[in-house]
Amino acid sequence: MSDLNDKHAAKRILFVCLGNICRSPMAECIFGKLVDDRGLGDKYRVDSCGTSDEEEGNGVYPPARKMLASHGMSFSHTARQITLEDARDADCIIVMDASNRRGVTRVTGGRFDGKVHRLLDFTPRPRDVADPWYTRDFERAYNDIAEGCAALLEFLENEQ
Ligand code: 4NP
Repeated sequence: MSDLNDKHAAKRILFVCLGNICRSPMAECIFGKLVDDRGLGDKYRVDSCGTSDEEEGNGVYPPARKMLASHGMSFSHTARQITLEDARDADCIIVMDASNRRGVTRVTGGRFDGKVHRLLDFTPRPRDVADPWYTRDFERAYNDIAEGCAALLEFLENEQ
C-alpha cells in the first residue's frame, strides 16, 4: 500500500514562504513543537522551504531565531527552494501569504495547487502572515504563525 493510501502513515506538512529564513522555518519549529507536546510526533512529518532561491543555503534569520528562543525553542534549518519533488511528496503545502501561493504555482507549474492552503485561512480571521522581512515586526509574525499552527493542527486532528 502506498503512503498516500495508508491512513496510518505520517502526514507530510510542508510550510512555504518566500525566502525560507523567517516565516516558514518558524512555522516548522512551532508546529513541530505543538505535535511533540501533544504526543503526536509520529503522525506528522514537518519541513519547510521557500519559493525563491535567494536565501538558499542560509540559516534561520537571527531575529526569527531570537523570537523562537524567547519562547524556549532552539531551531536550525538551511534555506532551500521548493522542488517539484517536495510538492509532489507533501500531503499539505501551507503558505504564509497569497504571494507565496502564486510562487508555488509558478515553480511547480500549478500541478499541486489543490493541496496548497494559506496558514491563517484555518483561523476565524483569514489573512496573510505579514512578511517580517519588510515589516520588521517579528513578534507579530510569531504570534500569527503560532495562532495558525494551532488552528491547522486542530483542523488536521478533527479531519481524521
Ligand atoms: P521569509 O522572509 O519569506 O519569511 O523567509 C524573507 C526573507 C528574505 C527575503 C524576503 C522575505 N528577501 O527578499 O531576501
